[in-house]
Amino acid sequence: MAGFYSGRVLGIETSCDETAASVVEGAKVLSSIVSSQVEMHKKWGGIVPEAAARAHVESILPVLEEALCGTCPDAIAVTNRPGLVGALSVGVSAAKALALCHDVPFIGVHHLEGHLVSVLTAQTDTPVPHVALIASGGHTELVLVKKWMDYQVLGETLDDAAGEAFDKGARLLGLGYPGGKAVEELARNGDPKRYTLPRTLKGQTLNFSFSGLKTAALRLVENEGERLNKADAAASLQASIVDSLTSKCQNALELTGATALTLVGGVAANSVLRERLRDLCHRYGARFTSPPIEYCTDNAAMIALAGSLRLAAGDFSSFDLDCHPQSPLPPVPG
Ligand code: KG4
Ligand code: ZN
Repeated sequence: MAGFYSGRVLGIETSCDETAASVVEGAKVLSSIVSSQVEMHKKWGGIVPEAAARAHVESILPVLEEALCGTCPDAIAVTNRPGLVGALSVGVSAAKALALCHDVPFIGVHHLEGHLVSVLTAQTDTPVPHVALIASGGHTELVLVKKWMDYQVLGETLDDAAGEAFDKGARLLGLGYPGGKAVEELARNGDPKRYTLPRTLKGQTLNFSFSGLKTAALRLVENEGERLNKADAAASLQASIVDSLTSKCQNALELTGATALTLVGGVAANSVLRERLRDLCHRYGARFTSPPIEYCTDNAAMIALAGSLRLAAGDFSSFDLDCHPQSPLPPVPG
């Protein structure tokens, strides 16, 4: 069982296009508020960093007020890396101001550590070691979680992330942004074998590549023109991404001998992927865990929980904490 900071920890997340705040106590989520900018970015077909930062400035205090609901936090955790620096700065500045005014400790949290820890919202006794697949709009990584806060990256994408592959495919099919959910919905009435699309890198490697799929999907849409059956195309696209993710998880289970697998990040909301990985784990006698959907996509409860683990281990940040667009997963504290 993971060791949490005693008291109420406020989490703040502004790394991309959700302004989120949450209060947790131990593993219990007392509040989790997410204000999404998705409707605003939709009209541009993707995230505009400057607009994202300005929208965080508008929403951060109302979101904090709703999450705190009069509570005084005992500690504060805030995403400070990786992400859009302008967007991250809004959350980090708010966290510093609150830490100063309440005179409580605060900690900068790595966004991907937040996703890794998000499974604790589903199962507080998630076993370690385990293999975690992080599949989001910006990242696709296989990580061996040796114990909480002790990570080894086993593999990662060499180009696009899995969520990006969904989003780019959705754009080609005219489904708007972000596309993962829309592709899943359309694919329900489609034949996944109708169109042949490439799978990721073959063999034992634990790295991913989705750029070949992007090119093949573009060619498919151009070649088929008016004849294209969009539901079949969505199902074929989803099958390619799900097959690719599943085959690399299988490699990771075989290589590590791990007896548990977790699926986290926005793409974990995909029910076909969840089913496939559940089946895979069943065949390998491994336990499968994925958070409830609301904690798969970006949220602040996962940041509060990750911060709580680090604060309990004596890891704190100082007021000169900075924001970083790229950053490796953090080392074990101490
Ligand atoms: O973790 P997340 O909320 O933000 C990042 O940290 O990137 O992930 C967002 C990604 C988007 O690419 C979105 O299309 C994808 O998650 N996504 C899905 C589904 N719901 C969200 N992909 C496939 N199926 C879904 N149901
Ligand atoms: Zn994320």
